[in-house]
Amino acid sequence: MRGLPYYLISEMKLPHKIRKLAQPLTYRRAWRRVRRSFFPLPLAPLRAKIDQERLREIQQRYAGSPEGFSKYADVDRYLRVNRERVQDLKLHRSTPKRVLDLGCGGGFFLFILKKLGHSVLGLDVGHIDLYTELVELFDVPRVLWKICAFEPLPDLGQKFDWITAFSVRFNLYQPSKRSWGSAEWDFLLRNLQRHLTPGGKIFFELNPPDYHASELGDFFVSRGATVERERIFFEKGLRLPSVSYAPFGSKESELTSVAEADNHELHG
Ligand SMILES: C[S@@+](CC[C@H](N)C(=O)[O-])C[C@H]1O[C@@H](n2cnc3c(N)ncnc32)[C@H](O)[C@@H]1O
Repeated sequence: MRGLPYYLISEMKLPHKIRKLAQPLTYRRAWRRVRRSFFPLPLAPLRAKIDQERLREIQQRYAGSPEGFSKYADVDRYLRVNRERVQDLKLHRSTPKRVLDLGCGGGFFLFILKKLGHSVLGLDVGHIDLYTELVELFDVPRVLWKICAFEPLPDLGQKFDWITAFSVRFNLYQPSKRSWGSAEWDFLLRNLQRHLTPGGKIFFELNPPDYHASELGDFFVSRGATVERERIFFEKGLRLPSVSYAPFGSKESELTSVAEADNHELHG
């Protein structure tokens, strides 16, 4: 559009802007913002629960750190991000729930939930020292575990009403960084079902390359989720095709049986 007069460019952009306004996504985002203001969650009482001296000491130590994740020492910023997550899932106006957060990072989300009276458990590979220090600062219980494709989670000693995962990274093969496909997600969902109470909910917030994969979106919908770009919400639990479960370890036969069940569901 270089070289065109400004008024022509803005006229060309106008239909795009109007189209964007009419999109359900724009509408849902706006509605979430409104709902947050109707049901605020003040940060001051949460901040007051943090040992400020210890926090300052952590922040000073990571201030000059070249690694990208040192930004997480900006506790205020990430408390705000996670306050929105809590509000959008309406967990600040819910009865106490048991919540498992996969890839919990520094534990911001669970810290807020814990202060609201929920019972929380984080799960993370735990290789980032700053996260470990923050989880300890927030006194958030955490299980160290690396989620791997086609491998079940450990026994967590309880079932959960909610399983969440934000800015998901465990779905990347290393070192290729190739993202999981439907088969890997299907295995995880089936495994998570075993960790959920009846009627339990699952919420994932994916990263851009994953939510742009439309076949993955279709897969999540087929399993009972509502999908809004990066937001994958199994609000009414999972819809899993009935399969005769192959024992863990027998990945090939399990995948075959899942594929057969899907095929059966589709074609009767
Ligand atoms: C981008 S951070 C997101 C942290 C947090 N969920 C948030 O949104 O602030 C991704 C987290 O996932 C964890 N992680 C990455 N791969 C994992 C794996 N295979 N199993 C468990 N945790 C993993 C990392 O250690 C990190 O804490």
